[in-house]
Amino acid sequence: MQIFVTGGAGFIGSAYVRALLQDEFAGAAGASVTVLDLLSYSGNRDNLPLTDSRLRFVQGDITDSALLRELLPGHDAVVHFAAESHVDRSIAGALPFVTTNVLGTQTLLDEARAAGVGRFLHVSTDEVYGSIDDGSWTEQWPLAPNSPYAASKASSDLMALAAHRTHGMDVVVTRCSNNYGTHQFPEKVIPLFVTNLIDGKQVPLYGDGGNVRDWLHVTDHCRGIQLALEKGRAGEVYNIGGGTELSNRELTGRLLEACGAGWEMVRPVTDRKGHDRRYSLDITKIKNELGYEPQVTLEQGLADTVAWYRENRAWWEPLKARAAL
Ligand SMILES: NC(=O)c1ccc[n+]([C@@H]2O[C@H](COP(=O)([O-])OP(=O)(O)OC[C@H]3O[C@@H](n4cnc5c(N)ncnc54)[C@H](O)[C@@H]3O)[C@@H](O)[C@H]2O)c1
Repeated sequence: MQIFVTGGAGFIGSAYVRALLQDEFAGAAGASVTVLDLLSYSGNRDNLPLTDSRLRFVQGDITDSALLRELLPGHDAVVHFAAESHVDRSIAGALPFVTTNVLGTQTLLDEARAAGVGRFLHVSTDEVYGSIDDGSWTEQWPLAPNSPYAASKASSDLMALAAHRTHGMDVVVTRCSNNYGTHQFPEKVIPLFVTNLIDGKQVPLYGDGGNVRDWLHVTDHCRGIQLALEKGRAGEVYNIGGGTELSNRELTGRLLEACGAGWEMVRPVTDRKGHDRRYSLDITKIKNELGYEPQVTLEQGLADTVAWYRENRAWWEPLKARAAL
């Protein structure tokens, strides 16, 4: 089996590739992997076992049709992670989000169809649903994205589903909640807070800290993706979540505790523009249809994540310095 992974040098894509190459997914044991990644600011070669003979790494852009035409033939599946992924960056400038997330996804869909690749798994996000005060989103919920990031992901998610309905392409879409774990670029809240606290620096908490997110360990997300890739029905959407719902204030409390710091290390900052109040996913469909069950508790996952950042300063320190975080 040959799997084509875009964005495989990023946080979640690299966790997926490492799991594949370690044969953690029985259905893809022995698979070989091509990673196409632009190595944008958040992509990092060091996230991948580059010496593994089952891995081919290509630095390149998903908007580059000619390159895709050369690389895609012969692959059984595409797992599409590549994206501009940070909401705050999309507020500062939305254009790269439209270019990579919308144009890039459409280019990839077109070239995957032309190359006769089997299944196309599009990795989407719960942010496409908007914000929900009570209850949880099912896959039938109307999309109502608020940030430019979420709007660009909703656009690409719908283009992927359109390729199924229009051309009969074998597309599956997953929509996942907030991920955490090792190798996450230190601009996102958990690695930013953990690395600041390790360095004895304050952490910035948006607004009243009441925004609620469902936190899922990245390995549980990857397990859900693999189930959807292997057993999901074509043209279907599967929510992936089932972590722990926490307000940002509660999350901050857990991180302070894990790092042995107190609330004096928290600096309140002006809220993010258009900040979604609450995300909550109903994961009944993937549980019942595909047998998905998250395995990592927040306690264990956070402890492991904090330990990894403590032990891997050489990984994150240059990234923070370069991004002036
Ligand atoms: N992080 C989360 O909590 C979360 C939750 C749900 C869904 N997702 C989705 O998962 C995917 C991966 O997210 P992540 O957190 O790993 O992001 P990330 O920013 O860590 O990784 C993105 C990767 O895509 C690459 N990339 C960017 N533009 C590219 C281009 N034009 N061509 C090729 N490669 C390009 C980057 O170099 C990087 O390696 C994204 O599609 C994101 O929307 C993320």
